[in-house]
Amino acid sequence: MKKVHLSPVVTLKWMRGIFLIGFMGAGKTSVGRVLAERLGCRFIDLDQCLHQRFGAPIPDVFERQGEEVFREAERDELARCCEQHNVVVATGGGAFCSQANREIIRASGGLSVFLDLPWEVLEERLVRDHAGRPKYDDSGQAQLLYESRLTDYRQATVCVELTGSESAENAADCVVAALEEAPCVT
Ligand code: S3P
Repeated sequence: MKKVHLSPVVTLKWMRGIFLIGFMGAGKTSVGRVLAERLGCRFIDLDQCLHQRFGAPIPDVFERQGEEVFREAERDELARCCEQHNVVVATGGGAFCSQANREIIRASGGLSVFLDLPWEVLEERLVRDHAGRPKYDDSGQAQLLYESRLTDYRQATVCVELTGSESAENAADCVVAALEEAPCVT
């Protein structure tokens, strides 16, 4: 696996954590894993933390305990991630849509990175693979949800436009390039 050496300025930016955000199907987990390896960071999957916390898959949590319980736990786990250094965190698609969560990331000095893919690509991925996604009912509902979340996603410090045809490795390269150009966050 190729490793990259970032400039001191970039190092300063991500030392408190990089938070990948974006809609379901954007590739936050797969890109996050590669990115973490490239940067020599630990990778954390927020949904995985929540699965472990509840001892149950996320759809079961939504069904048995409701979304509000899930979102409270999500905030708590996110806050724990924000205490870590040198981590790449793949968040769930709804995590950055909470003002409180955005503030937790910002206050920790974390860097939010929006993986911005065209809706058509996300739609195709979700139609193919929506099992275990309690926020997906059908394509029309998901598109409305996506559109309603865009203004939140666009508040990320860094937006990385992807076509969706990149491999996870190429997409991670695009993130690194965007980090190199991003304004310093200190
Ligand atoms: C959610 C997305 C999921 C997961 C949960 C809620 C959302 O994560 O956190 O099902 O609200 O969009 P992914 O974006 O990794 O699918």
